[in-house]
Amino acid sequence: MSPVSLAIVGAGDRGTGYARWALAHPDRARVVAVADPSADRALPLAGESGARVFSDWRHLVDAGRIADAVVIATQDGEHAGPAVALAGLGYHILVEKPLAPTEAECRDIVAAVERAGTIFAVCHVLRYAPYTDAVRSVLESGRIGEIVSVQHLEPVGFWHQAHSYVRGNWRRTDRSTFMLLAKSSHDLDWLQYVVGRRIRRVSSFGGLKHFRPENRPAGAAARCLDCAVEPDCPYSAKRLYFDRLRAGRHEWPLSVVTPAFTEEALTSALRHGQYGRCVYDCDNDVVDHQVVAMEFDGGATGTFTMTAFTTGGHRRTTIFGTHGELACDGVSVRVQDFRTGGSSAVPVTATGDATAGGGHAGGDERLMAAFVAAVATGDRDLIRSGPAESLASHRAVFAAERARLTDRVVTVE
Ligand SMILES: NC(=O)c1ccc[n+]([C@@H]2O[C@H](COP(=O)([O-])OP(=O)(O)OC[C@H]3O[C@@H](n4cnc5c(N)ncnc54)[C@H](O)[C@@H]3O)[C@@H](O)[C@H]2O)c1
Repeated sequence: MSPVSLAIVGAGDRGTGYARWALAHPDRARVVAVADPSADRALPLAGESGARVFSDWRHLVDAGRIADAVVIATQDGEHAGPAVALAGLGYHILVEKPLAPTEAECRDIVAAVERAGTIFAVCHVLRYAPYTDAVRSVLESGRIGEIVSVQHLEPVGFWHQAHSYVRGNWRRTDRSTFMLLAKSSHDLDWLQYVVGRRIRRVSSFGGLKHFRPENRPAGAAARCLDCAVEPDCPYSAKRLYFDRLRAGRHEWPLSVVTPAFTEEALTSALRHGQYGRCVYDCDNDVVDHQVVAMEFDGGATGTFTMTAFTTGGHRRTTIFGTHGELACDGVSVRVQDFRTGGSSAVPVTATGDATAGGGHAGGDERLMAAFVAAVATGDRDLIRSGPAESLASHRAVFAAERARLTDRVVTVE
């Protein structure tokens, strides 16, 4: 079978990661086009792969269909345009989550791929991680009986919140999207996947508690490089990024702060760029803590918490069944049986850690492998995050945010 040809739209952090999977598996996929207005990003990738370069996804569209499939990894607000246009040209599509910042655009994307009849997957990478397989195999085996309740935590982490959602690209609802969609569309989607039922009703509370101008300590400067109280601040950009640079940890998040891994380049980025700003002096508005209470079809209930105020780490979940309970943390899975009183570990073959930088415990790689194999063989069953289920979980997220903003219980239509 000849390798699947891929166009990459958006050669940023995620797009480059998916392209690198193809470069590492030349027998399965090859990158033939890269579209990105940033020459700094597009050209190195094109240099490695020999791909054609386009300065905008619109120019890729103008070229007609020049690849079997496209990976769309532009920012959230720039998914619907290329997805609808490229579906119209017959491309198979892998698109980053969230699908789009509005429910209408999410529907437009799904309608376009359904019209085109092409293979479509959303980068809900957690569905593809080996630990998810372990969780699902326990639940499907009936070992904990019928699922009655679920408790799920997304411990975003104090520094990750500061990096992405206070200083970074996802800090403002109007420029990207609301926090629950940006960060936790994964979580509601994953809960729906492992419980095996759609979310029917939701309520939600939360807000922006801490990263506000009124919490700025006396004497704090607008940038950490100039700040007298920086050593006492948990959110110091100097500590966050220089410690990584000196330890040789050049991957995300450092890779999005500076293109060169030198003291001079990082100092310049923190002096002039968005990641050197005081966390109490940014134009952020997304929440730093939120809870969602939910009811699944059939009556099982769930609670979800996302919070900035943790040391981070893996998502933690407990699933309570009529005959036992299952606990998992993105690495290990444990089951307790009410009948025997016994507790046992379920083997998980994770590759990498469960963070985005670690490839979501193998989820990123397995998603790419599944998508490419589905395109090569036409076997849609390889896709775990297809159009209908992805749209359903996005709609649960939109409903939860509506519930938070309107102080109501909202039914997911
Ligand atoms: N699946 C996950 O776990 C996960 C994790 C992080 C981010 N994401 C999502 O992935 C997407 C990309 O995130 P990222 O961190 O790689 O962002 P990024 O900013 O690093 O990359 C986006 C790229 O798109 C390019 N771009 C902008 N306009 C363009 C245009 N008109 N045509 C072509 N390219 C254009 C930018 O120049 C940039 O290189 C976002 O939707 C984000 O929410 C998903």
